[in-house]
Amino acid sequence: MNRKPNIAVVGATGVVGTTFLKVLEERDFPFENIYLMASSRSAGKKVTFKGTEYTVEELTEHSFDKPIDIALFSAGGGTSAKFAPIAAEHGVVVVDNSSQWRMDEDVPLVVPEVNPQDIEWNHGIIANPNCSTIQAMVALKPLQDAYGIKRVVYSTYQAVSGSGMKGINDLKNGLAGNDEDLQAYAHPIAGNCLPHIDVFLPNGYTKEEMKMINETHKILGDDSIKVTATTVRVPVFDSHSESINVELEKPFEIEDIVDLFKRSPGIIVQDDVENNVYPLARDAAGTDEVYIGRIRRDFSLDNGINIWVVADNIRKGAATNAIQIAEKLLEILPD
Ligand code: A2P
Repeated sequence: MNRKPNIAVVGATGVVGTTFLKVLEERDFPFENIYLMASSRSAGKKVTFKGTEYTVEELTEHSFDKPIDIALFSAGGGTSAKFAPIAAEHGVVVVDNSSQWRMDEDVPLVVPEVNPQDIEWNHGIIANPNCSTIQAMVALKPLQDAYGIKRVVYSTYQAVSGSGMKGINDLKNGLAGNDEDLQAYAHPIAGNCLPHIDVFLPNGYTKEEMKMINETHKILGDDSIKVTATTVRVPVFDSHSESINVELEKPFEIEDIVDLFKRSPGIIVQDDVENNVYPLARDAAGTDEVYIGRIRRDFSLDNGINIWVVADNIRKGAATNAIQIAEKLLEILPD
C-alpha cells in the first residue's frame, strides 16, 4: 500500500486498546485517519493520540460504512464475533485480539516471527494468538526448525493485566487489604497462585490451557506435536513467565541452542546464573522482546531441554504482535 491507511482501534479504552495506541505512536505507524471505538459507555470520551484529541465513538453496525483499511480489535470475543465479519464485509482487514476466530480454518493465526506467510491468505480477519502462546511460539520456532519438536510441557505464571482492568483492580485491592468485591477471579489473587485461567472445560483443563495446546499446533503447522499445559495466574501486574519443557527430535548441544536463540528474531537471551541473570517479569514489562534464560538440559529425557521464557503480555502478547501483523499487511494490501 503506497498511501497511508485509515485505521480503527476497537476497544480503544481498554488495557490492550490503550496499548495499541501507545505502540502505534512509538512505531510511527502511518495513517491518514484513525477512529477510536468502544462501547456506548465510553462514547464521547476524549483521548489524545500523537498530540491530537480524538473522540471515542460507539461501535455500531454502521461503524465501518466509512473507508477503513485496517481495524485492530480488542473488545472481547462477543464483540469480535458480531463486528469483525461486518468490518470484513466492508473490505476492512481486522486484526483480532480475542479468541473468537483463532481456530477458524478460514482465519490465519499469526506470530510475525514464526508464520508471517499466513497473513497473505486472510479473508478479512487475522487472529492474534493468546498472549501465553505468542511468547512460547517465538521461543519454540527456532527449535522446531533446527531440531524438530516431539513434545512440549507448558507451566505458566501469568500476570493480572491479562484479565484487563478487573484483574488489575483485584490485585491492587488485595494488596491494599481488600479481598472482598472480587471483579475478575474466583479467589483473592494477592498472595496467591490461581491454577484457573478462563473457564474449566469438561476434560478438566481450563480454556486457557486448551488455547495454548490448540494454537501451538496451528501456528507451528504440526498437529503431531504432543502438548500439555498448566496455566496459573500469579500476583504480578505485567508480563507472563513460562517454564517450557521441550522434547526435541534430534540430539543437541546446549551451547548451540543458546547461539540459536541469540540469532533468532524477537529473542533476547538472559542466561548468566552465576550472576543471578535470568528473565524477570518486571524487566520485561514495557518492552517488545521475548526473553529466554535458564537454558538447561532435561536429564530425564534423551533430547530434553528446559527454558524460562518471559514477555510483556500486553505488548508482545497482544498489542505489539497485532501491530507487527498490521505492518506486514501494509506491505501486501493494494492501494
Ligand atoms: P468500554 O470502555 O466502553 O467498556 P478491558 O481491557 O478493560 O477488558 O477493556 C475492554 C475494551 O473493550 C474496552 O475498550 C471496552 O469499552 C470495549 N468493549 C467492551 N464491550 C464492548 C462492546 N459491546 N462494544 C464495543 N466495545 C466494547
